[in-house]
Amino acid sequence: MMVKTIIANWKMNLPHGDVLGVDRYCQKFDAAQKAKMIIAPPFPFISMLQTRGFQVAGQDVSANSNGAFTGEVSAEMLAQVGAGYCIIGHSERRQYHHEGHGILTKKIIELLNHQVIPIFCVGEQKDDHLAKKTYDVLSAQLTALNGFKGRKIFIAYEPVWAIGTGENATTDTIKKIHHFLKTRLGKRVNILYGGSVNQTNAKDILSLKDVDGLLVGAASLKAEDMIKILSCLH
Ligand code: PGA
Repeated sequence: MMVKTIIANWKMNLPHGDVLGVDRYCQKFDAAQKAKMIIAPPFPFISMLQTRGFQVAGQDVSANSNGAFTGEVSAEMLAQVGAGYCIIGHSERRQYHHEGHGILTKKIIELLNHQVIPIFCVGEQKDDHLAKKTYDVLSAQLTALNGFKGRKIFIAYEPVWAIGTGENATTDTIKKIHHFLKTRLGKRVNILYGGSVNQTNAKDILSLKDVDGLLVGAASLKAEDMIKILSCLH
């Protein structure tokens, strides 16, 4: 059986709002809990969390290798500070930075070249969900992975209408969509679910056979909630 993975996506937030709060957050986890989770903090905090014994991930990466790209962070740099994973194609990047197929393919190449595992996010908007176009949207997003068959890439299925809304997809919907993704990509590809996951719904979602883990946003900023979510792994 695949080991299920829990990823904390802090976005542009810190627990308790500042560096002291991050420190307090870190102290609440023991080594066994740290081993079961991966934190994707804002870039400046990757090293701090790594030295506190957490596995770390980037929230994004440059599509370029190096050079005059002010504000960007390369895959090589992420690897150098110990990030084993990097989220790409999050719906917030797709929406606010107009990221699509071409740039995401380049980011995957950069990450794989530096042994950083991409966590490739897919998900449909509310309108698509209501119009029953979810499978079409996901199929179109998955074309960015065409050249990478057999490479280690995680997928995060995050219905956009469920992100930060408190309205998570039903277990029945998650089951169907994860089954579709496994059929498309292969049984051995890790498929995570994200979108309003919290300490109350995590257990039911994690119990689904084709759910290989969770991508947790808001709830991951509270150590107590995160610890409850981790306890659902048993
Ligand atoms: P949420 O965010 O858990 O706050 O809905 C999830 C995500 O965007 O990764």
